Amino acid sequence: MKQTYDFGLVGLGVMGRNFILNVADHGFTAYGNDLDKEKVAALIAEGGNTESINASTEVTVFTAALSRPRKIMLLVPAGKVVDVVIESLLPHLDQGDLIIDGGNSFYTDTDRRERYLKDKGIHFFGAGVSGGAKGARLGPSIMPGGDREAYQHVRPIFEAVAAKFEGAPCVAYLGPKSAGNYVKMVHNGIEYGLMQLTSEIYDLLQKGGNFSNGALQQTYARWNQGRLQSFLVEITAAIFARKDALSDGHLVDAILDKAKQKGTGKWTSQNAMDLGIPVPSIDIAVSMRQISALKDERIQADAAYDRPKVSPMEATQLEKMAEEALYFSFIITYAQGLHQLADASKEYGYELDLATIAKIWRAGCIIRAGLLADIAEAFSEKPTLENLLLSPTFMEKVQGTVTSARELVAYGALNGIPLPGLSNSLTYFDAYTSARLPLNLIQAQRDFFGSHTYERLDREGIFHTEWE
Ligand code: 6PG
Repeated sequence: MKQTYDFGLVGLGVMGRNFILNVADHGFTAYGNDLDKEKVAALIAEGGNTESINASTEVTVFTAALSRPRKIMLLVPAGKVVDVVIESLLPHLDQGDLIIDGGNSFYTDTDRRERYLKDKGIHFFGAGVSGGAKGARLGPSIMPGGDREAYQHVRPIFEAVAAKFEGAPCVAYLGPKSAGNYVKMVHNGIEYGLMQLTSEIYDLLQKGGNFSNGALQQTYARWNQGRLQSFLVEITAAIFARKDALSDGHLVDAILDKAKQKGTGKWTSQNAMDLGIPVPSIDIAVSMRQISALKDERIQADAAYDRPKVSPMEATQLEKMAEEALYFSFIITYAQGLHQLADASKEYGYELDLATIAKIWRAGCIIRAGLLADIAEAFSEKPTLENLLLSPTFMEKVQGTVTSARELVAYGALNGIPLPGLSNSLTYFDAYTSARLPLNLIQAQRDFFGSHTYERLDREGIFHTEWE
């Protein structure tokens, strides 16, 4: 067999098939591999039996077909499967070949695999791919991390297939080791936060302003034309328009209110805790999926407790305030995620460039939003910016919208409408922007009961007081 294929892909599920077709669309030849005969046959058929696409169930045939160094991407479920696939490939690889894991693998797994394969002369990349099935087919945002020089082998392919923002490909080498998977994990954490916020604003508009699905559709569509322009707001509008095929109503009303999760949001929160970086807008989004899962308990509790009667708000005024509050809390959520990335970069030696990350999120990925162009600019102007809230551009945006967030959080609390993402975002903002917090008292308490010592505002040193 001729060793002619530019790119190999293992795992011909929807994402894998779409990604490989995307590669072939851009003038590269690509070879697929999957244990499932039907998936292999489906890809060959979909590739139109052309020279540019081929596939096999046999690893030996697959690896023999690839040009050197081999560039093999895995689009298989994260976890054990990745290790199994790596082991099956290894005997057929040569020094200098590249394996690229395109799944949502946990970053420490990527570090382990990178070290293991380095010893064998194989370059291992963790490359987050965002954009779902459609993104994989038409242009995802790709977040690769690994060996900088080896990346050059796959760079032309990734740059060709990635989504484009004003002509610029939404892919860039992000850093060594697991930098790519880590950035994708935080992308997903932000995704959880933004999804929670769009959902609770929907609840607010329905309960506080009596918005119908039609009005919700129009509202979100209008917002998508303005500064809230984003993939998630756009699809939210489309969701409200969808009629149910199985009833007379709208589909959204027929969907069970229990949100599932695969773990990337939770990992973001867990790791933020380890780093000591507060991301409460993301934490609460994870907690809300967990609360949503307690449907039976929620039904019992709903019946047991009185809830305040909602005093309605005027619809136009509510819509205006909701837009401002959503914009405010979107900014806060991005600020938290990027803060986490900045800290993780120092902690794990990723050498991340936050402006580049914001740029490659401007198209293709789930959290793409107009806002990211401003975020990219803020970090380009000041790469060492600790937090978006310290950027003068963002100060103005936040200052102009925070009042609506305050009023709606208060309104939600008084009327029994849960707005946890919004209130966590507001609380984070109020705390982060307080020069003085009451945690001096916590230090006093710690010293009181455990002699844990404290520092003072007015002089250097470590102090302890005998409080009793
Ligand atoms: C993307 C998404 C994707 C993720 C789904 C589902 O960027 O394309 O983040 O990678 O798997 O959004 O995630 P949950 O099942 O955890 O909601």
